[in-house]
Amino acid sequence: MRYRIAQLSDLHLTASRRRKAWRWPVWANLERALDRVAQEGPFDRIILTGDLASVRKPETYSRLREALAPFWDRVRVLPGNHDSRSLIASTFSERLLDQGGWLSFVDVLPGLRLIGLDSLRPWRVSGKLGNAQRAWLAGELEESEEPVLLFLHHPVLRIGCWWLDKDLLRDSDELKEMLRGSCVQALFFGHVHQEFSGEFAGLPAHATPSTAYQFRPHAIRPGATERGEPAFRIIELDERGRLETHVLMEE
Ligand SMILES: [Fe+2]
Ligand SMILES: [Fe+2]
Repeated sequence: MRYRIAQLSDLHLTASRRRKAWRWPVWANLERALDRVAQEGPFDRIILTGDLASVRKPETYSRLREALAPFWDRVRVLPGNHDSRSLIASTFSERLLDQGGWLSFVDVLPGLRLIGLDSLRPWRVSGKLGNAQRAWLAGELEESEEPVLLFLHHPVLRIGCWWLDKDLLRDSDELKEMLRGSCVQALFFGHVHQEFSGEFAGLPAHATPSTAYQFRPHAIRPGATERGEPAFRIIELDERGRLETHVLMEE
């Protein structure tokens, strides 16, 4: 395998390691997920696609930074709707690009480019990239000589669950136009706390479950399931650039 990437999403961490988020032992679940990442590795990148915190405090993020220490040089982080952009920017400053209005990362590897996008709208649950970030992304894609994998927090397409579909990326149509015929190979997102795969702009688009707690597919009412955490996604690219991906879920 040429590249192996682990995507972890929706950690929903509390400020104290002993505290739960709602009734979920989010820190214990993250630790189990990171143990599994260590077992299943090595990974070239470990990409955290937002909702790192349920409690937006400096300690939440600094404790996460400590937990990620064994993987630190390979870690990339993005914000989700539950996060503080400024606390992520200050805690993870070496691990991302602070673009002024948004946070991102661009990783140029031999034969592969990874781009992280920021879909956080302060005080809103839904996501949006915004004109400035989309213009920046268009430039990045034009410049890229490699296939690109895109990562962001919010769903770019509907997954068939009304209370999550309303949080769809607000400028998903504009993004779709930009990606048609581009060098992007696939997209990966979080937010929906469940596994889902669909097609967006003719490309595979995958939702990754949460490390903390899951939502039931097609659930009529909001609410978490009783099992299936932690979970994370493995993305593998072979020597010919073929992409394979699957979710690992603890039962
Ligand atoms: Fe979440
Ligand atoms: Fe979210």
